[in-house]
Amino acid sequence: MTTPLLELRELHVNADDTPILKGVNLTVHEGEVHALMGPNGAGKSTLASVIMGHPGYVVTAGQILLRGNDIAEWTPDERARAGIFLAFQYPEAIGGVSVIQFLRQAIAARKNLDELSVLEVRLDLAEWMDRLGMDSSFAERHLNEGFSGGERKRNEVLQMALLEPDLALLDETDSGLDIDALRVVAHGVRTIKGARPSMGAVVVTHYVKLLDELVPDVVHVLVDGRIVHSGGVDVAALIERDGYEQFRLVHQ
Ligand SMILES: Nc1ncnc2c1ncn2[C@@H]1O[C@H](COP(=O)(O)OP(=O)(O)O)[C@@H](O)[C@H]1O
Ligand SMILES: [Mg+2]
Repeated sequence: MTTPLLELRELHVNADDTPILKGVNLTVHEGEVHALMGPNGAGKSTLASVIMGHPGYVVTAGQILLRGNDIAEWTPDERARAGIFLAFQYPEAIGGVSVIQFLRQAIAARKNLDELSVLEVRLDLAEWMDRLGMDSSFAERHLNEGFSGGERKRNEVLQMALLEPDLALLDETDSGLDIDALRVVAHGVRTIKGARPSMGAVVVTHYVKLLDELVPDVVHVLVDGRIVHSGGVDVAALIERDGYEQFRLVHQ
């Protein structure tokens, strides 16, 4: 048995002294796509953020292991350099920074380089935009200035493609995104995995229908800070038919 890419063992996490995750166990091997579903407030975003090392969340018990190494004390930068990726969200427009300029900085940080040639990034970016079916003019757009939901997601997927993570965490934080915008992510994960089969991914999604496109290996249901059910894509049908209440009742 190979060492898992990611292992959460009985992970307990607080935010502002409030317990949010209450003993999460999760094992992701290389090349696996895991979908994480659950009602609002269950702790899905907390799970993604604490793996990345967001300073607002405190591990009070349990372990976060990356290839067997406990990373709980690592900074977000160290985790990024070790290959963990969480799509960066822009709270507001960053004036004057184009998609390509931003990606160049992000790649340099991930690969621990001082400088990276614009030409090199441009070639990689052009190739990926072509593979992902994106219009080449997107590279010159300025971050968030008038980005639609779909464009924000395209930008996230391009980050994921170019940063070449070993473990990609995707949190569907935007409510009110249309289904096409969300499909960009599912399609992006599949395309990128096609090129790099060893990448593992944990994808948070509310939309049962997206699982068709994402084709996850495992679907987890997170309720009240615990994974209460894990299964195949058939879990989606249960959720669609009867919601999350069935899992709540069984496990309390
Ligand atoms: N910084 C924080 N301080 C206090 N409570 C928080 C904080 N962040 C999240 N929470 C609470 O933790 C719970 C889980 O939040 P979250 O991880 O965002 O859930 P989800 O992504 O599943 O909707 C919610 O009840 C939320 O209000
Ligand atoms: Mg969330």
